[in-house]
Amino acid sequence: SAAEKGGYASFMLKEIAEQPKAVADTLLGRIDGAGRLTLDEVRIPGAVLREADKVVIVACGTAFHAGLIAKYAIEHWTRIPCEVELASEFRYRDPILDQRTLVIAISQSGETMDTLMALRHAREQGAKVLAVCNTNGSTIPRESDAVLYTHAGPEVAVASTKAFLTQLVACYLLALYLGQVRGTQWGDEIHAVVRDLARIGDDVERVLETMEPVRALARSLADKDTVLFLGRHVGYPVALEGALKLKELAYMHAEGFAAGELKHGPIALVEEDLPVVVVVPSPRGRSVLHDKIVSNIQEIRARGARTIVIAEEGDDAVVPYADHLVRIPATPTLLQPLVATVPLQVFACELATARGNEVDQPRNLAKSVTVE
Ligand code: G6P
Repeated sequence: SAAEKGGYASFMLKEIAEQPKAVADTLLGRIDGAGRLTLDEVRIPGAVLREADKVVIVACGTAFHAGLIAKYAIEHWTRIPCEVELASEFRYRDPILDQRTLVIAISQSGETMDTLMALRHAREQGAKVLAVCNTNGSTIPRESDAVLYTHAGPEVAVASTKAFLTQLVACYLLALYLGQVRGTQWGDEIHAVVRDLARIGDDVERVLETMEPVRALARSLADKDTVLFLGRHVGYPVALEGALKLKELAYMHAEGFAAGELKHGPIALVEEDLPVVVVVPSPRGRSVLHDKIVSNIQEIRARGARTIVIAEEGDDAVVPYADHLVRIPATPTLLQPLVATVPLQVFACELATARGNEVDQPRNLAKSVTVE
């Protein structure tokens, strides 16, 4: 009903708007005054976390994209090798698992059958399973060794938005906690990131306040057939998520690519006026990445692409090559997906609405898929 939607035209719009609070709620009580992670609720003994020699993340759909991003954070901050796999592929390839493997199962609903079967398989092999889940008492956390709940609140729209941002937050917390428990060379960086993470809800809020040009752009592209998305590093899974949202909601052909792969195929798709969304990493920090993506933007634009560039405030290098520029607040590279995904959600939602689609209940999709 209209009341349940809190004055918004759809649950999806309401849930997009709730993201700053969802992020803040998921952080609440998990960082102490001294900037240390306090994840006591993760009842996996410290010894297990210290001795883990591999992390394997399993998930489906949008949660899988959160897992892809988590891999960058986990490997960087903990130096533990991390694999990410679609839950539906996982157990059928006879994965290598043992007592020293920490499996992270990410699921908003806690009921996705593919993810549940993957975690059962992992436990049968002796691995420890930690669920990242948004639904109290659902099957996946009940069958796991431990759970870190995301506090997004109920997500009604089929396409996941606020749950995704909170999955990212939970994964960052876990990665930082693993780093803290094991002791890492990144002690100072971890402190700085924890501080940035604690304020990131405000950055998400600022992004939401500047979305009108993105909505206007989305409406202007309503009759397009294809939109491509490019990113590097954590921007690559963000590109995949932007494309997934557009498929789910707008029923358009949308694909996400690693920008470095352009020359190995996707650039053949670029033609006059093709919209290409590019997620640009921060020019600070890993500047090599930034320079490379700026050349990628030049390459596609020279071939006629209409470039939609998502770049940090103050990043001037992209300005000459951006047909449309979407500014996001500066964040540490690994945290950028929390702000960079938001314009892509708004873009997909508005474009789908302009095409006359029902955004809360896209055709052929279910909120929670309880069959394999
Ligand atoms: C369905 C939903 C997606 C979701 C996926 C995984 O396909 O439509 O939005 O990402 O399931 O769901 P889960 O509840 O396991 O996160």
